[in-house]
Amino acid sequence: MNTDSLALLSPVWSHLTTIQPERGEGIYLYDAAGVRYTDFTSGIGVTNTGHCHPRVVAAIQEQAARLIHGQINVVIAPAAVRLAETLNTVTPDAINCFFFSNSGAEATEGAIKLARMATRRTNIITFQGSFHGRTAQTMAMTNSKTVYRSRYQPLPSGVFVAPFPYTYRYGWDEETTVDFCLHELELLLKSQTAPEETAAIIIEPILGEGGYVPAPVRFLQELRELCTEHGILFIADEVQTGFGRTGKMWGFEHAGILPDIIVMAKGLGSGVPISAVAASQELMSRWPTGSHGGTYGGGALAAAAAVASVAVIRDENLPANAARMGERLMDGLVELQGRYPFIGDVRGRGLMVGTEFTRGGGPDKDLAKAVQKACIERRLLLLTCGSSENVIRWIPPLVVNEAQIDDALTVFEDALRTVS
Ligand SMILES: Cc1ncc(COP(=O)(O)O)c(C=O)c1O
Repeated sequence: MNTDSLALLSPVWSHLTTIQPERGEGIYLYDAAGVRYTDFTSGIGVTNTGHCHPRVVAAIQEQAARLIHGQINVVIAPAAVRLAETLNTVTPDAINCFFFSNSGAEATEGAIKLARMATRRTNIITFQGSFHGRTAQTMAMTNSKTVYRSRYQPLPSGVFVAPFPYTYRYGWDEETTVDFCLHELELLLKSQTAPEETAAIIIEPILGEGGYVPAPVRFLQELRELCTEHGILFIADEVQTGFGRTGKMWGFEHAGILPDIIVMAKGLGSGVPISAVAASQELMSRWPTGSHGGTYGGGALAAAAAVASVAVIRDENLPANAARMGERLMDGLVELQGRYPFIGDVRGRGLMVGTEFTRGGGPDKDLAKAVQKACIERRLLLLTCGSSENVIRWIPPLVVNEAQIDDALTVFEDALRTVS
């Protein structure tokens, strides 16, 4: 590592490590000296197909040699059309129209623009603990931690925050928590943003940066009903939960509901920046031509990477593997919780699992950070999340196998033993 060169990188970036990988393969990263690191961060939930999956690499190489940039307002890259066709095979029948952009924030913001335009309503409801991005609009919709907003205020108005059914934090049973949160949401619609001025409710089916908390099935179902009743659009932010991460292609599938708009990014391109807003053709027809767009969305290179990524996820049954490996991971973590009671909660779906560290009835960030550090020293890369940063999150690539899950659990236990 050249320390002086690193000073050339803006300090606004936080860094979990200063590892400089030369190469990635599957769940592993390798530095110049050949040292191997186990990446259970997936580059923040991106490399669902594993690092440098051969089919994704081949598709990128092949596309790069033919056409890198086919600007969609000027020409239509065949890869962009192939991507729409491919996504159409993995989304519900009613969701059959796609808009492409580059990042999760950009797609989330696009979804809000679509919702406002289509409904002619102004307001948006988000949930406590949400993370939707770092642009001005998505920052206004993000409240997982104040660091994302502090000193950037005032932010765009028209955003209202309802409580998320975070059962463990409230300390109630799930039914009570869901009832409370639905009641508060209805109160919000009576007291702060009337239904007829509310364009959309946006929710992460599993709260991501906010602590890896699955939204209870009944909550999502009743939310869907409430939206339908009031003509409010239901937006599923599947940026982190999508593409097989939760054991199904989409997080909302666990509740058997149909959103009006799906926002997708991260796993879509296996690391090549690409995101999408998906809705019905009818809804998209209410978005006037030219009222939204961007230079790069639907470009050939990223579209080709995305077509290959989705094909790998489908052909290799990665959602099913995520469900199986997730169960093994959860079983192992629950067993460790029995021996290390400062792991207050183990929760998640598929390979989106959180372990919440608590002591004396409250969040214990220091302990979570100490365990994370001990894991990194043992070359297992894990991220934390949660408003109190006391949740270690488990998001390995979906190609992970049983032996690799077991190895990670062994390292984690060693770390727990060391810090306790
Ligand atoms: C649920 C969710 N939405 C939106 C975003 C923003 O995505 P991006 O960082 O690509 O802008 C993220 C990023 O972590 C996310 O987890």
